[in-house]
Amino acid sequence: MRDAPAKTALVTGVRGQDGSYLAELLLAHGYRVVGTSRRGGGDGRDWRIAHLLSRLDVVPLDLGDPAAVQEVVARVAPDEVYHLAAASRVDTSWERPMEALSANAGSTVNLMEAVRRVAPAARMVVASSCEIFGRPERWPQAEDTPVRPASPYGVSKAAAFWLASNYRESHALHVASAILYNHESPRRGPAFVTRKISRAAARIAAGVDRTLTLGNLEGRRDWGFAGDYAEAMWRMLQQERPRDLVIGTGVSHSVREYCEHAFALVGLDYREHVVADASLFRPVDTTSLVADARLARELLGWRPRVAFPALVEMMVTADLERVRSGADV
Ligand SMILES: NC(=O)c1ccc[n+]([C@@H]2O[C@H](COP(=O)([O-])OP(=O)(O)OC[C@H]3O[C@@H](n4cnc5c(N)ncnc54)[C@H](OP(=O)(O)O)[C@@H]3O)[C@@H](O)[C@H]2O)c1
Repeated sequence: MRDAPAKTALVTGVRGQDGSYLAELLLAHGYRVVGTSRRGGGDGRDWRIAHLLSRLDVVPLDLGDPAAVQEVVARVAPDEVYHLAAASRVDTSWERPMEALSANAGSTVNLMEAVRRVAPAARMVVASSCEIFGRPERWPQAEDTPVRPASPYGVSKAAAFWLASNYRESHALHVASAILYNHESPRRGPAFVTRKISRAAARIAAGVDRTLTLGNLEGRRDWGFAGDYAEAMWRMLQQERPRDLVIGTGVSHSVREYCEHAFALVGLDYREHVVADASLFRPVDTTSLVADARLARELLGWRPRVAFPALVEMMVTADLERVRSGADV
């Protein structure tokens, strides 16, 4: 009996945190993987996928250019499309709201339109966000929680969410949104709070820095491990019926708790090194979004495998190693 031909996956934003874990997972499952990036490779931008480059194609693509998007989708002829590329920071979306809208909602339209025209049988998942719930009246949040974003980033992700729903209903596209709660890893960008803390703990322990300035220490997040969330998105596309699903751990922790754990791992008391600066608070903080991921568990058999203490330890250990080896990113 002959093996089934390998599936082809197109992953936008493959150089990002989630893109790197997803590419790893898809390659392990025998897929041909093509990733997109706004720019060509080299000059240190490949640090998350350097170990995959011999098995992965990375093509430059401006997701804001409909003709270019359609050309790539036609050429790659994907079975599965993972739309991860985004202006992914809530804080900068307050400064550049139009960038968030065009990068997050506009790119989703261009990609779905291309899939509809030249690869209509492909299955597609859009990386949505718990930020679409903004300041909800219900905890934890599930698939039927009203969408009520409270930041330009949240609005852009809400627009992409409704557009995906619209393409599913109007054009029978196999597209679903993964409503992702915060997920972290040693590959998280250094501007995100968890990575700021793990990196600072390592640098302060090594005597390179002395203090870390943060915004609201009481802010709470439902933090999981990015590798688990990449697996959830893959499982979503193995379903016959596309369904929007909430993906998260169901447990929240404060930024203060993250600091406490991270600094304790390097033998330090965070209170001697972490300074809270009110000028860094967000204009509106979504305070405490917590996932009710029961439907994902039921339909996908998915559950998060890495708990909070192990996640913090993984990140601090990686940053200690980076500081030790001089490969700090
Ligand atoms: N991580 C989380 O906690 C979380 C939670 C909820 C939702 N999400 C969503 O999940 C997806 C993956 O997140 P991630 O953590 O992997 O993000 P990430 O590390 O920031 O990666 C996103 C990638 O998108 C590309 N990108 C950045 N700005 C862009 C722009 N203005 N226009 C087009 N592309 C841009 C970048 O790749 P190039 O520079 O190579 O083009 C970047 O590597 C994103 O859609 C994010 O919004 C993430």
